[in-house]
Amino acid sequence: MVCQPDCSGRLFEPMGQPTIDRRFTPRFVLMSTCHSDGSSSKATVFVHAFGCQMNAHEGERLLGMLLDEGYQEALTPDAADVIVLHTCAVREHAVHKVVSEVGRLARLKNARTMLKIGLTGCVAQSDGASLLGMAPGLDFVVGSRAVVRLPSVLRRVAAGERVVDVADGEYLELGLAAARRDSLRAYVTVIEGCDKFCSFCIVPYTRGREYGRPASVIVEEVRGLAAEGFREVTLLGQTVNAYGRKEGGAGEGEVDFPELLARVSAVDGIERVRFVTSHPNYLGEGLIEAMVRLPEVCEYMHLPLQAGADSLLKRMNRGYTVAEYMSRVERLRAAVPDVALVSDFIVGFPGESEREFRATLDAVEALRFASIFAFKYSPRPHTRAERWGDPIPEPVKAERLERLLVAQRRIADEHNQSLIGTLQEVLVEGESSRAPAHLEGRTRTQRRIIFPGPAQPGQRATLRVTGIDRGRLVGRVAATPSHVA
Ligand code: SAH
Ligand code: SF4
Ligand code: F3S
Repeated sequence: MVCQPDCSGRLFEPMGQPTIDRRFTPRFVLMSTCHSDGSSSKATVFVHAFGCQMNAHEGERLLGMLLDEGYQEALTPDAADVIVLHTCAVREHAVHKVVSEVGRLARLKNARTMLKIGLTGCVAQSDGASLLGMAPGLDFVVGSRAVVRLPSVLRRVAAGERVVDVADGEYLELGLAAARRDSLRAYVTVIEGCDKFCSFCIVPYTRGREYGRPASVIVEEVRGLAAEGFREVTLLGQTVNAYGRKEGGAGEGEVDFPELLARVSAVDGIERVRFVTSHPNYLGEGLIEAMVRLPEVCEYMHLPLQAGADSLLKRMNRGYTVAEYMSRVERLRAAVPDVALVSDFIVGFPGESEREFRATLDAVEALRFASIFAFKYSPRPHTRAERWGDPIPEPVKAERLERLLVAQRRIADEHNQSLIGTLQEVLVEGESSRAPAHLEGRTRTQRRIIFPGPAQPGQRATLRVTGIDRGRLVGRVAATPSHVA
C-alpha cells in the first residue's frame, strides 16, 4: 500500500453514532436552543478532526467532553449550533486550508444565525489570534494545549465574545469520556507532545513537551474499554516507544514501554494491542522481546526513516544513521519475521541532491516496507529548517515523490502476492464497504481483508488469503471461528 494522506481534505460525512462511556452521564446542559414554538433542546455540536491519529482521538475526546457538558452531537455541519474543526499544521497551506474551510462553513450562518465556528488543535496553537483576522466567520480559537478549557470558552462565545485561548493547560484527561467512533478498536494516548525537534517538524511547537500519562491511568482506561466490549487498543504517541524514558516525565519511573505493553496486554478482554508511531532510536531489545513474548501485541511497526542518506538525516536532526536503522530492523525481523514495517518519507528537503534522493530510493528497495507515507517537504513556522527556505523546485519534488511511490507500489504488489495462500488471523469488523454481502476485517499486520463469512463482528477468524482486489486482500474462512472469544 502506498499512502499520501491529505490531512486537510473535506471529510464531512456522518461517521455513525459514537460510543460513549456510560459512566460519564451529562452533568448539566450548558446551552439550549430556543425554538419559535417556545420549546428548547440541547445545543448541537459537530467536531471534525484533521491530521494524525492522535488528533483523531483528541477529536473523540473533545466531543466526549462536550457531550458530557450537555451538548448533543450533530452528524453534519449544517445541523450544528457549534462547529469545531480540530486542525493539523504539519504540512503546507494548513492555515490557508482551514481559513477557506471556515469561510465555506460561515455561509451556514445565513440560515443558522446562532451558529458558532471555532478552530482547535495545532493550527490554532501555532497561529492563535491572527486567525480571527484572516477568517471573519470565526468565533473562537483554542490551541492544542488549551483544549481542556473549551467548555468555558464556549460559554464566553455564547455570550457574544470572540475568544482566543492558546495558553498552556492540562492534558485532556477528562475522565474517560471519549466519544469513540468504533466499538471494537480504540485509541489510547500514552504520550502527549514531543521532545525530539526534528528540524522539519512543527509538532513540538504545537503540542509542547513530551508528557507520559501514568501507567496506572492508561491501564485503567484500557480496563474500561475492555468492559465496554473493545477488543483492540492502539497506544498513541508521536514517539510512543519512548514511553517511560523521560526522567520525571513519562510513566511512573519504573514502567518502560515494554512493561506498559505487558500491562495493557494482560487486561482481560483485550485481544490485540498496537502502537504508533515508533522512533528508530527506541527500538531496543526490550521492545522486540515484548513483541515476541506477548501474543496480543500485533506484528506491525510504524518506524519512520524519513530519508535514505545520512547527510539528510543529520540535517533533519533525526539522531540515527541509515545503517543504524537497518541493523535495528534486521534484529526486529529476525525475531518477528512476519512484521509489517511501515515508514514515512519526506522528499525535497532543503538541499536534497539527486544523489541523496537516490539513496532514499535505495533504502526503500532494500528495506521492503509493507507501506509508506510519502510527503513533499514544506517549510513550517518555528522550525529549524525554516531558515533554509524551500529551494527544491516544486516539479522536482513532484517527480521525486512519483519515483518513490512507483518503487513502493511495485514492492507492495510483490508483498501482496507473497501473502496469497497464507493463513491470517483476522479481527472481524463488519460488513465490507467494498464488496456487497461480504465481511471485512484486519489482519494482525493491519491489512484489510474481504471475505464471504460466516463470522460475526468482534470475532477472530483464521482466513486463507485467496487473492487481491484493488490492493485489498481477499480470503475465505479456513478455520471456523469457534476458537474465538
Ligand atoms: N512522530 C512521527 C511523525 C509525526 S508527523 C515521527 O517522528 O516519525 C508525520 C509525518 O509528517 C512525518 O513522519 C513526516 O514524514 C511528515 N512531515 C512532518 N513535517 C513535515 C514537513 N515540514 N514537510 C513534509 N512532511 C512533513
Ligand atoms: Fe516531529 Fe520528530 Fe517529534 Fe516525530 S519525532 S513528532 S517528526 S519532532
Ligand atoms: Fe498534525 Fe498536530 Fe498531529 S500538526 S500531525 S495534528 S500533532
